[in-house]
Amino acid sequence: MSEPDIKKGLAGVYADVTAVSKVNPETNSLLYRGYPVQELAGTQSFEAVAYLLWHGELPTGDQLAELRAVERANRAIPADVREFIDAMPTSAHPMDEVRTVVSLLGGFETAGIDNVLDAAGTPAENLDRSVRLFAILPAIVAYGQRRRHGLEIIEPREDLDYAANFLWMTFGEEPAPVVVDAFNRSMILYAEHSFNASTFTARVITSTLSDLYSGVVGAIGALKGPLHGGANEAVLHIFTEIGSAENVVPWLDEVLAAKRKIMGFGHRVYKRGDSRVPTMKLALDALVDHYDRPDVAALYDALESEFVSRKGIYPNLDYPSGPAYSLMGFDTLTFTPLFIAARITGWTAHIMEQQASNALIRPLSAYDGPDERHVEGYEPDA
Ligand code: SDX
Repeated sequence: MSEPDIKKGLAGVYADVTAVSKVNPETNSLLYRGYPVQELAGTQSFEAVAYLLWHGELPTGDQLAELRAVERANRAIPADVREFIDAMPTSAHPMDEVRTVVSLLGGFETAGIDNVLDAAGTPAENLDRSVRLFAILPAIVAYGQRRRHGLEIIEPREDLDYAANFLWMTFGEEPAPVVVDAFNRSMILYAEHSFNASTFTARVITSTLSDLYSGVVGAIGALKGPLHGGANEAVLHIFTEIGSAENVVPWLDEVLAAKRKIMGFGHRVYKRGDSRVPTMKLALDALVDHYDRPDVAALYDALESEFVSRKGIYPNLDYPSGPAYSLMGFDTLTFTPLFIAARITGWTAHIMEQQASNALIRPLSAYDGPDERHVEGYEPDA
């Protein structure tokens, strides 16, 4: 038998087809259901993009109004869930907190359903579950940041759209339009990205006919890793470590000599730059002006130009989004939970697509352990 062609990390392997999004490194483009993400980020609300990912078409006015009504009606954290959250130590990592709460929501949702096949739900049930997770995650993430600061919960407001309400629940003040726009753009850019590690995790779990909540819990576990979602949190640690633009060169000398990976740079699929970065950088530039923080722009530009010139490795979306979220006032620990609140739309769109055309995901492994051997003294049954 010829040696199997192992693709470690499944690099370059096409595992299935999807109609949800198209990542094209050749043209450095990203399409959500055929629409370039730059166009969506510049013209649509995150609610409209969520609808697009779930349904395959942008919503009509009535369809968007209906989605908005359901989303606004499901924003608040129910009292019994709030009790569980308050029982968690505020020192727990917020990714663990959100992962645990989603698992709890799944337990409540499928309580009393003994047959696992029934818990997996119908397409209509899973669309409803997707919308309700989309609706409640902002309150969970916002409350998580406030709890860690010993602050009281801020209840959602039904008169604000998704982005403005998320900022309201986190900071307790009506956000400036430029901040709402930057936040809305970031959520659209983070929403979906084909078979990234967390989405593929969700699809593997779904392929066993498990339920949507289990798929999302698994995806959150994958997203926590700094090679994936955790990178935006790591970018701010790097900014703090470097301090200011003039420290970039000596800092890079040291970390590259130590063979450290620079979070926020590089990508498994994009090799000449992440298609989402220019759009997120526009949002960051607007925030730098709004908060009058030219120092952030100087450090951002210095590190990017120095690292790209030395390694030819380009920024990914986490590089501009980290400083943008920091300028908005989010804790570094809250960054990757923000990624969850955005990516719940892509994850659930893929979960429903996997359910609609399923095959158990179970790849092969090539064995390189000891040759067959036998237990000493073993006598096969006569
Ligand atoms: C996301 O998949 C997605 O779509 C993910 C995502 C999404 O929207 O879902 O786009 C979100 O996860 C973005 C990526 C966030 N992660 C980071 O910023 C972490 C830092 N980046 C690297 O770890 C790395 O670039 C990966 C993991 C993202 C991709 O790496 P690959 O494709 O597995 O390639 P590799 O790690 O084998 O790197 C190839 C070479 C290596 O050098 P050699 O060992 O061959 O000498 O490039 C080097 C790497 O060391 N390299 C880096 C680097 N990225 C690659 N060196 C320093 N710093 C980096 N950031």
